[in-house]
Amino acid sequence: MSYEQIKVTPLAGALGAEISGVDLSAEIGDDVFREIQDAFHEHLVIFFRNQNLTPNQQKDFSRRFGSLIVHPFVKPLDGHPEIIPIIKEKEDKMNFGGGWHSDVSFMEEPALGSVLYAKETPPFGGDTLWSNQYLAYEALSDGMKDMLGGLKAVHSASRQYGAKGESAKNNDKRKTMEVAVTDEADAFVEHPVVRTHAATGRKSLYVNEGFTQKFAGMTKRESRPLLQYLYTHCNSEPFTCRFRWEDNSMAFWDNRCTQHYALNDYHGHRREMHRVTINGERPA
Ligand code: SIN
Repeated sequence: MSYEQIKVTPLAGALGAEISGVDLSAEIGDDVFREIQDAFHEHLVIFFRNQNLTPNQQKDFSRRFGSLIVHPFVKPLDGHPEIIPIIKEKEDKMNFGGGWHSDVSFMEEPALGSVLYAKETPPFGGDTLWSNQYLAYEALSDGMKDMLGGLKAVHSASRQYGAKGESAKNNDKRKTMEVAVTDEADAFVEHPVVRTHAATGRKSLYVNEGFTQKFAGMTKRESRPLLQYLYTHCNSEPFTCRFRWEDNSMAFWDNRCTQHYALNDYHGHRREMHRVTINGERPA
């Protein structure tokens, strides 16, 4: 793909590209918008540096791609229900998003994408990893592709936000972030294990360790060996990229065909990010 309005510099072989030549605090013309959208579909996660954005400007940018989700379980930023602050204080031992996942896959219509803006970054560490789920699917054997093509998986927020979930056990390890612990998180939804991207038409794997519980119609015990295999496979090194944050960097990723992982390797330092999540369609 060639770009005339913006500069697109790939970050890794599998996915990810840095975009320069655009100021996201200003209104973006249609030509620039189309190229950003093309880069998003080509690279799956795109990064912008040195952007000075207010919460409203972050939301305006995100709204160009769809309506915004109000996160059901994380307390939003004051006055901005569509923005969740993701904060690890100096004293905190636990971070948010510290495991491979695709945002809100427990929803009937999970996220199209997420836009994460760095307000305060630690002097070292705190990078985020992403993995390309098209490549993970394409690398499977034809036999495995055929079998997975006929399966659905059960997704739920219960392991994170349910009464017996991670937040219930560990909320006191995160001083500032307020994450609900609620029975509503025990609801579940079924999604195809292989989904087809609405814009690109490409197939990707759509199971993640954060929110997928089992294959539909099977027990957790029966599902575990194959799910474990898929989790290891789909986030293996050749499918990944890694982004080193600076204050005022922004990432925009496609939750339909990627997973991500926030590294927790900067104890003793503060990190604050603002996340906007964009509504998507029911996976098919
Ligand atoms: C997330 O899972 O959305 C958080 C990612 C990060 O903080 O790097």
